[in-house]
Amino acid sequence: MNDHGSNVSHLAARALAIMPGGVSHDGRQLEPLSLFIRSAEGARKTDVDGRIYIDFACGNGAILLGHGNSATVEAAHEAIGRGFHFSAGSEAELRWAEAIGAMMPAAQQVRFTSSGNEACLLALAVSRAVNGNPAILTIAGHYHGWAAPAVLPTIPLHEYTPSACGGTHLVEAPSVAEAIGALRNGRFGAVILEPTGASFGKIPLGHDEARQLADAARAARAIYIFDETITGFRVAPGGAQALYGVTPDLIVLGKILGGGLPCGALAGRRDLLSVLDNRQSNGHTGPRVAHMGTGNGNPLVATVGARTLLAIADGKACARADAAGERLRIGLNSIFAEQNLSWAAYGISSGFHIFMNPRGRSFDPLAFDAARIAPAELAARHVGLTNDLRIALLAEGIDINPWPGGLLSAAHDAETVDEALAGFRRAIGAMAERRTMTGWGEDS
Ligand SMILES: Cc1ncc(COP(=O)(O)O)c(C=O)c1O
Repeated sequence: MNDHGSNVSHLAARALAIMPGGVSHDGRQLEPLSLFIRSAEGARKTDVDGRIYIDFACGNGAILLGHGNSATVEAAHEAIGRGFHFSAGSEAELRWAEAIGAMMPAAQQVRFTSSGNEACLLALAVSRAVNGNPAILTIAGHYHGWAAPAVLPTIPLHEYTPSACGGTHLVEAPSVAEAIGALRNGRFGAVILEPTGASFGKIPLGHDEARQLADAARAARAIYIFDETITGFRVAPGGAQALYGVTPDLIVLGKILGGGLPCGALAGRRDLLSVLDNRQSNGHTGPRVAHMGTGNGNPLVATVGARTLLAIADGKACARADAAGERLRIGLNSIFAEQNLSWAAYGISSGFHIFMNPRGRSFDPLAFDAARIAPAELAARHVGLTNDLRIALLAEGIDINPWPGGLLSAAHDAETVDEALAGFRRAIGAMAERRTMTGWGEDS
């Protein structure tokens, strides 16, 4: 993939000339060359030079059924023939919303957006409008899209006084325990979190913590927002809320919701979403939130999204992807142990994170417990080492994402996972020969 004169290198040069960094998403940046893909099928994708990769990026988490799932491709073909944009509602959009409601009982109403990012912002706007409190509690490391921290003032909890800000602002608690303590002081209008922990559980958050946060939010009358952009329809058809048996007030959705097409939605309690009902006839006198968006509820996306949710509803796809995830995590830890490398693979459901051991601890990868490691240590990322790992894996026909880690789909069967594990073994062996794997330098 790094050959000079290859199609990838030509496209990378063209991309660098017209696109900053040659990419549309920071996570796609790779050195020396980013990847350019021609097509994808099942658990694999093929680059513009014909090289095939087992895909552990899975559409940044948007793909659960595997690439090119026949039911969703058929649905897309039908929808394309009917037109791209109606500037109006469609039955497909309705089916999509109803499918969400059927899979997530807490989704009493749904408002579509074009991304998870926008849905997060909308959740904050709705919370603010409903209770008038502009302070939104967040937890360090939890990702709610790039826009919220870019457009809203973000204040660390220990520096925060309620009189400090007038407009909507984020207050970042360093940990879940401190977020619970802060909520007990009753100063926040809402709390937003990734229900299985920061960056899909890179810093894990368990059932009990999610429940305690919910109780603290209820007691403080703060709106409890689950950002299920990545967990929704993946960790269970009904998302983390079904897995935990915790009922959020608002739910942010995206990724799998659109089956791989751009999408997002805010769902939740009818009384909260009613601030988005701007019909003149409804006689509302309270606060309103204006919400537009050219791509919202697009009929093509809605058709594919509704078909995707229908295929996920029975739980079999989630279970297949989960089993593949478990097989991969165990297999990776066996490889690390076999190579005497104190790295570890961990995570839940159909995801995995690779702990690269910034402090050079010694441990048995097969007995690794992320809950015993400090959040800052789990979150530390060595950019150079991660890039090296990704490049070594690409050479073995494996694409992971830059957490470092990745996601699996229902198309990742046991054979595919085992084939990937053989590639991981070779890539890690080759890296170990070239350099020290625990050499955390200045970019960590
Ligand atoms: C938990 C979470 N929230 C929000 C987002 C942003 O969603 P989008 O990339 O669709 O804007 C993401 C994307 O990775 C996410 O994982």
